[in-house]
Amino acid sequence: MAALHERCNVLLSSETCKAVNRSWTADMNDNMKAGPELEIIFPPEAIAKRLGELAREIANEGADNLMVVAILKGSFVFAADLIRALHGVGLAPEVDFMTLSSYRKARTSAGQVTILRDMDLDVRGRNVLIIDDVLDSGRTLAFAKDLIAARGAKAIKTCVLLDKRVKRAVQVEPDYCAFECPDTFVVGYGMDVAHRYRELPFVGRVVRE
Ligand code: IMP
Ligand code: MG
Repeated sequence: MAALHERCNVLLSSETCKAVNRSWTADMNDNMKAGPELEIIFPPEAIAKRLGELAREIANEGADNLMVVAILKGSFVFAADLIRALHGVGLAPEVDFMTLSSYRKARTSAGQVTILRDMDLDVRGRNVLIIDDVLDSGRTLAFAKDLIAARGAKAIKTCVLLDKRVKRAVQVEPDYCAFECPDTFVVGYGMDVAHRYRELPFVGRVVRE
């Protein structure tokens, strides 16, 4: 906890924050120092509970011969937790990664998706589950779906941690979604601003840098 205390002050104003472990947050408030302030939007316990539900949903809808493709970098924590939740419901997916970029260092979409690092596995004839952190304009997920479809996947489903819903530039809806998210830039649980905050165990919003 010490490193986290040095890095950020956590505001406890939103409703969802009530679910955060009391002693943990009290401890953090005792240690408030000058630095960035984050407001927790989705606390660790809520995320863990939701991932269990998602894994059961995915298993119930039939996921044989499953290949998971996690879109890096933002989804790496979500994907790591979700594949362990999938193991918990008896699934044994093959896992691959693809690094896509549409945001670079800015907080607004560049509008064009590029492959920074391609996946290794052959998707032909496979049931593919694409995992991403945030669905916003839809460009990233649509790009990944189109690419994997063009490469001959048998079936493609998508699973996102957060769906912002309001700013779609491309018509795409997730098959599975952990949470609807307010239209604000979020960090933590793998997500960053300029490579920071990925290590935080919750999804939050930077209210002061
Ligand atoms: P889209 O292509 O506009 O749907 O954006 C999706 C991609 O942008 C995701 O893969 C994320 O990596 C990134 N992104 C969108 N919103 C956020 C955010 O609030 N925080 C961090 N990354 C974000
Ligand atoms: Mg991303």
